[in-house]
This record gives sequence, C-alpha cells and structure tokens, in this order.
Amino acid sequence: MRILLLVHAFNSLAQRLFVELAERGHDLTIEFDVNDAVTREAVAAVRPDLVLAPFLKRAIPEDVWRRVPCLIVHPGPPGDRGPSSLDWAVLEGAERWGVTVLQADGEFDAGPVWASQTFPMRDAAKAGLYRREVTEAAVTAVMQALERLTGGGAPMPVDPAAVRSRPVLPWSSRAIDWAADDTATVLRKIRSADGVPGVRDRVAGLHVNLFDAHPESRLTGPPGALLAQHHGAVCRATVDGAVWIGHMKRRSADPAAPTLKLPAAMVLGDAAVGLPEVDGDHRDVWYEESAGVGYLHFPFYNGAMGAGQCARLLAALGTALRRAPRVLVLMGGPDFWSNGIHLNLIEAADSPADESWRTINAINDVARAVLTAGDTLTVSALAGNAGAGGVFLALAADRVWARRGAVLNPHYRGMGNLYGSEYWTYVLPRRVGAEHARAVTEARLPMGAPEAVRRGLVDEAFGTTVEDFRAGVRARAEALAADPVLPELLAEKRRRRAADEAEKPLERYREEELERMHLNFYGFDPSYHVARYNFVFKIPKSRTPLYLARHRRAD
Ligand code: COA
Repeated sequence: MRILLLVHAFNSLAQRLFVELAERGHDLTIEFDVNDAVTREAVAAVRPDLVLAPFLKRAIPEDVWRRVPCLIVHPGPPGDRGPSSLDWAVLEGAERWGVTVLQADGEFDAGPVWASQTFPMRDAAKAGLYRREVTEAAVTAVMQALERLTGGGAPMPVDPAAVRSRPVLPWSSRAIDWAADDTATVLRKIRSADGVPGVRDRVAGLHVNLFDAHPESRLTGPPGALLAQHHGAVCRATVDGAVWIGHMKRRSADPAAPTLKLPAAMVLGDAAVGLPEVDGDHRDVWYEESAGVGYLHFPFYNGAMGAGQCARLLAALGTALRRAPRVLVLMGGPDFWSNGIHLNLIEAADSPADESWRTINAINDVARAVLTAGDTLTVSALAGNAGAGGVFLALAADRVWARRGAVLNPHYRGMGNLYGSEYWTYVLPRRVGAEHARAVTEARLPMGAPEAVRRGLVDEAFGTTVEDFRAGVRARAEALAADPVLPELLAEKRRRRAADEAEKPLERYREEELERMHLNFYGFDPSYHVARYNFVFKIPKSRTPLYLARHRRAD
C-alpha cells in the first residue's frame, strides 16, 4: 500500500510503525502535521491508499478523511476518548489498558474501529508504558487493521455504552499532598505525568515539575521533608516511607526563558547542597553475576549519558572486568539502551561547547574500555532503543543482540550535522564494511532490529517483550560462557584487536573523530548548537525534513 504517515512528530511509536510497515514492503512517506494546507498538499502529492496517524495532536481536515481512509492510533481501549488517555489510566491504577485503531471522522477519537488490542498495565511511568506495551499493541493492531482493510472488511462502530470521553488531565488531579499521600499515591501521580508534563510541586520554595520517581524502602522522615541525595536524585519523605525523584524542571513565569528537565539536585541547587549522599534503593548503574556471566545495567533516564554518568559506568565496567566473568552483558535499560551524550546537561552548562567536549570524551572512555576488554567476551543487549552515539557505543562489544522491536537510529547528522565519535569510524566499518557504513550514517532513518541484523549492525534479534528478550539474553550468554570454544574465541578476539591496533591505533580513530567534533563544538558553524537547542527545548519543526518526506524530494 502507499501509506502517508501523518504525525505531530516522528516519535518512537511512529518510527516503530515506519520500520514495521517498510519491512512488509509498503511504500511509505511522512508528513508533519504543521497545518491543514500542508496536509492537503501532501495528500494531493502522495495520493495515498491510506493515511496513518500514530501520533497526532490535531484533527485531520474533513476533505482529507472524506477522500482517503485515515486511521488514527489511539492509546486507549475502544470507546475511550480524549487527549490524556494513558495519563488517566496510570493515575487511576487501571489493571488493563489498550490501543485502538479507528477511522477518522467528524469527532475526535470517535470513528468506527478497525482493530484493537489490550495489555496488562505495569507499575511504570507513562512514557515507559508508551514505549513498550502501547507500541507493541499498536503494531499488532495496525497490522490487523491493514489486513481487514485490504481484505475488504469494514470498521465496527463503537458500542455507545462503552464510550468514555475524558478531558485533559487537570494539574490539580495529580497535585501531591505530601502531608496525606502515601508512597504508592505519590508514585502514581508522578508516573502518570512522566515524561510530559510532570507533576507541579513546590520544593524548597521553588516551583518545579517532578519526573522519574522510584520507591525507597529504608529512609523515612517527616512527610514532605527532603532526606537525602544520590547521584543527582533527591529523596523525599511520604507519610509511609519515601520516594526518590530523579529529575525536575523549574517552572518559569517567563515564556522567553524556557527551562530544562535536569537531575533534581541540580535544579534545587543550594537547597540540595546540605543533603547527605545516601545509597538507597534507586540506582542507575549496577552489576550482577550468575553462571559465569556478568550483567551491567545502566538504565539512565531517557538513555542520556552525562560525563558523570559515563565516569560511573566506566568505574563499574572496570570493577566488572577485573572480576573477569567469561561473558559480560551490557544491559543498558529497558526503555533505552543509550541515546548518547546528555544534551540537556550540555545545554544547561556555562559553556555547552566545553561540556560537549567533556561528555564525548567520557563516553569515548567507556567505548574504549569495552573495545579493549581482552579476557571477557562482551555483549550489548538492546532491550530498548538506541540512538546516535548510543548505537555506536553498543557496537564496541563483540556481540550485539537486540529485542525484535528495538529501533536504532545509527546516525548523528540529525543533530546539526554532528560528526560523531564513540570510535564509530572503527566499529561501524568493522561490522558492515566501509561502503555500507556511509550508507547507514547518511540515511538518517530509523532502523528496525531485523534490518539491523541484515545490515550486520546487530548479530541477532529475538524476543517480543523485554522479559522474553532478557530470558533469551540469559540463555544465550550462559551458553556462551559454558562453551568450550570460548577461550579460542577470546584468543581470536585478542589477535584481531592487536592486528587492528598495529594497522591503526584506536587512539588515532579517536583523535580524528574528535578533531571533527572540535569543529562542531567550537568552530564557526553553529549548526550543532542550534539543533541541540531546538531538540532540548522541543521547538516544533515548521516543515518535514526532506529525508522523511520522500514525496517532497526531487529524486
Ligand atoms: N540527551 C538528552 N535527552 C535526550 C537525548 C539525549 N541524547 N535523547 C533523547 N532524549 C530525551 C528527549 O528529549 C525526550 O525527553 P522528554 O522526556 O522530555 O520527552 C526523551 O528523551 C525521549 O526522546 P524522544 O525524542 O521523545 O524519543 P524518541 O524515541 O521519539 O526518539 C531519538 C529517539 C534517539 C531519535 C531522539 O531522542 C534523538 O534524536 N535523540 C538525540 C540523539 C543525539 O543526537 N544524541 C547526541 C549525539 S551522541
């Protein structure tokens, strides 16, 4: 089918559907929903069999949905309507939730239903549910809808008894009453608003929005009191325990002075200075070992890695490698493996150029430690997505495994023509060959795990859910650790590394990449700084980039 993806932004769900539909041979192009005229123009140019809207914030113009079937992906079960579906479901503790593919008509979310899927809810942030359960359900439902559409089927009207229209979730419904709310309630409120918009609160006299909440079982104090800090997160007492809050965003009264989501202690500034550093239940780097296999977890919020996080990861990696497990699996996190350098921290720094330099060097140190681990077979296990430098960091390992639904963005250029580092000029050609390396980085498109396997970036893709994938990782890693040929594999790996080093030292790759990065950070062309600003402050795109809008390209 010729399909036009009409999106508010090319977000993770839209990217996943894009790669799944492309995998099935559909002819795809993308248009951002900038205004009705642009949508009409795109529909006239593409003449699609179908408009698919996985992430839209406005209604599709009537003359468009009357002419072409327009399918909307709604993150709620049939009958659910409104813009805060998932927020309400998390806040109210729904046990099951769903995704509906409906046909656009005159009323928002009210058209007849082509397909729907349900799933059990998990205690997790809204964004995590969206990236995992909602996305998997949406892929299944969209494929079912397409099958019915091509098979000559018709959509089913919604049972009027099932209709439940809900407004935008008001701020007041998730305001935290620290003197009365227990830990479970605080977690539900914050998670219902995480990644956006966060829960409005006042902490130490500052107006902030809260994100990234986790329970703490041991620390206690007067309800509402700040108790401790740990690597940028702060711990706050509830009536029956405490919660860690990893990230906050200051609310600015001045729209001309936008603020950033940052580690909570950094946002609190002086108010966090006296808090004791305590190692509680919430960690963002940890190591475990079983059956000769080490697992290093680093579920950094949004997959973003600042210089400090890289340093802590490097230290943990060093400790793990000194224990010399036969196999070491780099687990990343369940939602993201890594999205490369932490652009918000860079933006917030006094000198973003200096902070970019510091961070890229810190992430490079991690990549080098993986590349030079001679006595352990290393595996990157991508349960979640990876972007930019995060992909190339993964390729530093000897094996790369990915969950079947993981989406990779193996390119830097979207961030203002950033050249990139993380030894990508070594690890990418070593896997895919020099010629294909260029094609991969220039394409600027998301890549599904099956395509990544075909292109050689990933060795194997398996598992639908994160749990399936992790079970598969464990089984494969244990089999590798027990394999009598492992010593031979390691010897071969050391030989190859030594030969590669003799041909061109790792340090030279790094220097050459950093020379280009220095120009990106400190040179005359400000593109990277502009692109980063637009990315972190979420400045909407005023037109669809040509690498996505195939219908607008002359070629
Ligand atoms: N630094 C800081 N924050 C980042 C980040 C990074 N490198 N990558 C992603 N994020 C944040 C986003 O700002 C967003 O924040 P929110 O919680 O405030 O909404 C969140 O992670 C999710 O990202 P989003 O873009 O909505 O996710 P996606 O799955 O739709 O898209 C990417 C994934 C990787 C394509 C996109 O996030 C991206 O381009 N990231 C930048 C990658 C990059 O250029 N890194 C630097 C070079 S190494």
